Amino acid sequence: MAHGTAVVSKVLSKEELCLLEKVAEPCGIVIFGASGDLAHRKLIPSLFQLAKDGVLPRDYYVLGVARTALTDEAFRGKVEEDLRNQADTGLKADFIKRCVYLSGDYGDPKLYQSLDGRLSALDEAHGIHDRHLYYLSTPPQLYEAIAGHLGQAGLAKPRAQGWIRIVIEKPFGRDLASAEALNRSLHEVFREDQIYRIDHYLGKETVQNILMFRFANAVYEPLWNQKYIDHVQITAAETVGVEHRAGYYDQSGALRDMFQNHLFQLLSLVAMEPPSSMEADAMRDEKTKVLHSLRPIGPDEYSRLAVRAQYASGGLNGDPQPAYRSEEGVRPGSTTETFAALRVEVDNWRWRGVPFYLRSGKRLAKRVTEVVVQFKPVPTSVFKPLMADQLTPNILRFRIQPDEGISFGFEAKHPGPKLCLSSVTMNFNYQDAFGVGQPEAYARLFQDVMLGDQTLFSRNDWLNQSWSFLNPLLDYWAEEKQTGLAFYPAGSWGPREADELLTQEDRTWLTK
Ligand SMILES: NC(=O)c1ccc[n+]([C@@H]2O[C@H](COP(=O)([O-])OP(=O)(O)OC[C@H]3O[C@@H](n4cnc5c(N)ncnc54)[C@H](OP(=O)(O)O)[C@@H]3O)[C@@H](O)[C@H]2O)c1
Repeated sequence: MAHGTAVVSKVLSKEELCLLEKVAEPCGIVIFGASGDLAHRKLIPSLFQLAKDGVLPRDYYVLGVARTALTDEAFRGKVEEDLRNQADTGLKADFIKRCVYLSGDYGDPKLYQSLDGRLSALDEAHGIHDRHLYYLSTPPQLYEAIAGHLGQAGLAKPRAQGWIRIVIEKPFGRDLASAEALNRSLHEVFREDQIYRIDHYLGKETVQNILMFRFANAVYEPLWNQKYIDHVQITAAETVGVEHRAGYYDQSGALRDMFQNHLFQLLSLVAMEPPSSMEADAMRDEKTKVLHSLRPIGPDEYSRLAVRAQYASGGLNGDPQPAYRSEEGVRPGSTTETFAALRVEVDNWRWRGVPFYLRSGKRLAKRVTEVVVQFKPVPTSVFKPLMADQLTPNILRFRIQPDEGISFGFEAKHPGPKLCLSSVTMNFNYQDAFGVGQPEAYARLFQDVMLGDQTLFSRNDWLNQSWSFLNPLLDYWAEEKQTGLAFYPAGSWGPREADELLTQEDRTWLTK
């Protein structure tokens, strides 16, 4: 995000800014957990996308590290498989040739001695001067150990002309205490400016566009407050169930998996004040202030303002779907929530009294992520006998996925002599406007790490604040266990209780 703005001291035209070269310096990319699902499904294809876009450094290599014993050749075979949908070109062959592998036990110091030797040899072969990106794509319980060993082996301190950066996958802790402990461990070895806590939602174009929409246009910002906005809804709905991730998900649940990171990031972007610049810390300062302003929810309010639920059996698009508790790998009688909804308030001058309704769940009726901003109704109707409350309020919709775009709903008159009004929509669609699909969020984030831009990564104080807000609720739900857990049929829009969160205030969910 800060490209161009952070590095440029003179004024540029929009066209010049678009043409700014964003190529990082030569570096080595080290992926821990290189034999895993994320590495093969997202990380390797994203790196190749960057190679195709011409934004990988002039020279680079990709060193995969994992326990599984593989030769360089066998690892390259896997990389080739990951890129099977890509045409066989010289670029692809070159990319695959740059992929190498090192196996070992993450807890064994010998792995890091071997890593040191391998990095030196690769750096020399590629003319790279001590610039290394470590991507931790392992199970989270290994993050602290890997970071610690990197420190002990002298692989965390940048040397004279180089840099060392570490990317940490989600989940970042499972509560405030574990997130703080992980931060402490990382800070023993890495400075904060070396740490990139990834939230792939921030790599999505549509999420970044919330900022462009708000701060590069003059029309909406004067209305962006409690005087004109009635409420905000944020929905992240998935049709998939727990899939192959039951081991992780059953210990986690929707609040940890979706709210603490993705939904709170969206909330922060919608509610933040204009930053002084698009530089990483200016942006992250404002986002963190939003979380500091959240009105704490007390235990006596949980049953009114927070909903948790789990999917029962049901059907989706005509196919029967099993209950969560019958999914492979889920503990029998599990009380883990696969759906959560929250009503929160940002208690500051801009937002006092404006409810933000957040919901996310698995096995819902539709895959859709949206932020919906509903404006206040007109103060009175000049179209009597129609009354003001019969006119549909303006609705601004940020469609994060799918059908990426932004739309604005307003009232319009039907043609003809009658006084007949209905809601119509002005629509911006990414695909139509720019003629390109959505780039992979991981590609953008990889590029930013190589460029040293932390704007789209979570800072430790934002993360701590996010956990601080949710931790009491997590504790309460953990104690409450069976009671208070609602159920919803797979393929529905969630439990009745989530609808009541809004209907008790004469509102309804607008994402359907
Ligand atoms: N997959 C996704 O879509 C996704 C999305 C968001 C976040 N993440 C996060 O990204 C990280 C990697 O995800 P993933 O799905 O790729 O994980 P994964 O496939 O379960 O694990 C990655 C690699 O870590 C190693 N590993 C697994 N269990 C281990 C253990 N108990 N001890 C030591 N090594 C072990 C395995 O390699 P070896 O056995 O060869 O060492 C495995 O290939 C996780 O933290 C996950 O939460 C994943």
